[in-house]
Amino acid sequence: MTFDAEAFRQTSDAFRLPLRDLTALTRHAPAKVRAALPAEALHERSGFGYLVDAEAVRAYLAVNGVDFPFRVFAHINLKGGVGKTTSVVTCAVRAAQYGFRCVVLDLDSQASASLAFDALPEDDTPIFYDVWQKPAEMLGPALKRIDSHLYLLPSSLENGLLDSSLANPRHQKKAVAEVCAELKRLGFDVVFIDCPPSLGTAVISSICAADDVVIPIGSDPFSHKGLALTLEEIEAICDTYSLPIPTRRVLFARYDKREKLAAETLARMEGAYAEFAIPVPVRVSTEFSKVLARGETLFHSQRKNPARQDYDRIVRYLFQLDAPFA
Ligand SMILES: Nc1ncnc2c1ncn2[C@@H]1O[C@H](COP(=O)(O)OP(=O)(O)OP(=O)(O)O)[C@@H](O)[C@H]1O
Ligand SMILES: [Mg+2]
Repeated sequence: MTFDAEAFRQTSDAFRLPLRDLTALTRHAPAKVRAALPAEALHERSGFGYLVDAEAVRAYLAVNGVDFPFRVFAHINLKGGVGKTTSVVTCAVRAAQYGFRCVVLDLDSQASASLAFDALPEDDTPIFYDVWQKPAEMLGPALKRIDSHLYLLPSSLENGLLDSSLANPRHQKKAVAEVCAELKRLGFDVVFIDCPPSLGTAVISSICAADDVVIPIGSDPFSHKGLALTLEEIEAICDTYSLPIPTRRVLFARYDKREKLAAETLARMEGAYAEFAIPVPVRVSTEFSKVLARGETLFHSQRKNPARQDYDRIVRYLFQLDAPFA
């Protein structure tokens, strides 16, 4: 089984990219972009202008020099509540709107990412715990379609048993990597892994599979401790398994400029962690909890919001989307 081009059609409005976002990225004149897009991929919505199907956005960007290589992002911090799930679901939806064929791999037994997409598995649906031993057979049927360019391997409490089923270090090295290799074979470009806030086997196996480890932090001292420990662990695990160290990226996922600690955190990121820092802190916004309650992300609507702008810049940074248009 693979996902052919047909599978990536039929984008819903929530996952279509506003034409104005495409022109802002490319700096191309709206008339030029419209003329280059197939008429059936453009959808006029009163008050919103045009929305563009994700596959047409992909084709437009590809023609203009954007690459879509296979990438695995693991969002990890041993500290809880720092924005791992929020950054996974928000980045995944935005990347999908830009035409990346994305999968969210929910490895947290609390299933927050699955809940965020209102897509908990049914009782008989396989989850990672069942899939990792036979990805070629089980992965395709286990994936839930969220939209044309976003699929989910949902999680549930059984993933909490991974530490016993993945006890063998050889399995830890390969389990997530082999699931990701199968996702690549199925036709996907990008995997975002939402990890639990602990150093269990799911996190170790994710580090072994990741091209990029994104470490979200807040401004509290514990998330700094989490950052330092997570960076140490990445090195230790890659050393143990003789693997190259993935690109490490620190994401300041909750920046409130009124907080003294936030200014200190930003200064520290620009100092000690400068080589890892994603240069766009995400401003705090009460919208996150509101959209989550509706099973949405900030990119489901076009309402202007500073955090929406920040996550857009982060996705553009992670995928170097601006480079061909600079
Ligand atoms: N920039 C932000 N502004 C305001 N609230 C935010 C922001 N980013 C995240 N949050 C909120 O912070 C809380 C924790 O975020 P999230 O669930 O993403 O963290 P987590 O690291 O995945 O937690 P856990 O370790 O429990 O899985 C959530 O209620 C989320 O809505
Ligand atoms: Mg989480």
